[in-house]
Amino acid sequence: MSEAWTPSTWQHHPAGQQPEWPDTDELLRALKTIATYPPLVFAGEARSLQSSLAQVAAGNAFLLQAGDCAESFEEFSADNIREKLRVILQMAVVLTYSMGVPVVKIGRIAGQFAKPRSSPTERQGDDELPSFRGHIVNGALFEAGARRPDPERLVQAYHQSASTLNLVRAFTKGGFADLTRVHAWNQEFVASSPEGRRYEQLAAEIERALNFMRACGIDTEGHPALSAVDIYTSHEALILGYEESLTRQDSLTNRWYDCSAHMLWIGERTRDLGGAHVEFLRGVGNPIGCKVGPTMEAAELLSLCDALNPARIPGRLTLITRMGADHVEARLRPLLRAVTDAGHPVVWACDPMHGNTYTSPNGHKTRSFDAILGEVEGFVRAHGAEGTWPGGIHIELTGDDVTECVGGGDEISDDDLDNRYETMCDPRLNGRQSLDLAFRTAELIRSGGD
Ligand code: PEP
Ligand code: CO
Repeated sequence: MSEAWTPSTWQHHPAGQQPEWPDTDELLRALKTIATYPPLVFAGEARSLQSSLAQVAAGNAFLLQAGDCAESFEEFSADNIREKLRVILQMAVVLTYSMGVPVVKIGRIAGQFAKPRSSPTERQGDDELPSFRGHIVNGALFEAGARRPDPERLVQAYHQSASTLNLVRAFTKGGFADLTRVHAWNQEFVASSPEGRRYEQLAAEIERALNFMRACGIDTEGHPALSAVDIYTSHEALILGYEESLTRQDSLTNRWYDCSAHMLWIGERTRDLGGAHVEFLRGVGNPIGCKVGPTMEAAELLSLCDALNPARIPGRLTLITRMGADHVEARLRPLLRAVTDAGHPVVWACDPMHGNTYTSPNGHKTRSFDAILGEVEGFVRAHGAEGTWPGGIHIELTGDDVTECVGGGDEISDDDLDNRYETMCDPRLNGRQSLDLAFRTAELIRSGGD
């Protein structure tokens, strides 16, 4: 990894999980088009996020990273985006209020389109077609035309990211996220549940606190810390041609930033040290993440930290562990120790979703709320034992009342999964389950996992 980095040096490394684009000219044309488009985010914003993440690394703040497993070209509407933001805001307010620390909010949003797959092809009966790799690549329908990787989709992903981000900025800065509206974030189907009622109580306390501040003469209306929030964007940097075409040199610092999102992460399947994904992300100035699964060894993790954050900049690197509820404590502890001893100032975030996926008897890919909570619990306990800060959670959720994960307050059963199973990829927590998880996570962290 001694070669001087440029946005295209990844091309000299083996790149896993790339689609086989049938027409190279078409691909190059699409990438060239995107390269002429404006950046989606700005370097200064990525740097602000990195400073906030440095606070998480230091144990003074908490990270909430949440959103869809895969965003869809078809379910793309203002309602859909608003409902997702509503849950994220609710979870953030619960975590902030219960833990008493700032919560850094990052959506899996405005660019989370590409999916790694366990097999490049899918077989149904006698037919074999390319696997569905997310709407940035092909269509989900098991049909030759839909599954053909289409570079025009890269361009469409850019445009959808741009309009999603526009709406995220409008909602978070334009009054929707004002803390005086804390009650209005509670959706009807959530409000009637025990966790919804618990949220109402908390919202009432916040309202009382705001009234108190106003009575003391503090102007809560015009205060930016109360009337607007920062929600940053992130996605898995999987399709490297797309990421390269949005990588721009910052005129202030001359550094390269991947301007497709504020934060980018490397997935569990593409995190090999000599691979193209590590090569690409090591050179961009954005804060970056890396998934860490149950097979990770301490020595390999240290090499990854050295490759991705050689200067040991706090907030630059977030390690997103996804071990599975049964393994998390035992597997995580040696990693926490090794990284701490080596002096790497990372953010540790818990993805309690991807190590706990299984197929239900009626054929749905699902996760149980108990296992998700169990992984958060093991994560918090491991950190308690090693004296490190359980810095955040990384969640797949939706604002809608779906039935994709079993369990939770309303005890979704295997049979219920048939009712509203709408995800394009992995099962997501619904609004009630997400809120419940936020309350429980805050409690676990306050009590050190006991
Ligand atoms: C994901 O975050 O959607 C994902 C595919 O995760 P992982 O790389 O951890 O399997
Ligand atoms: Co997923």
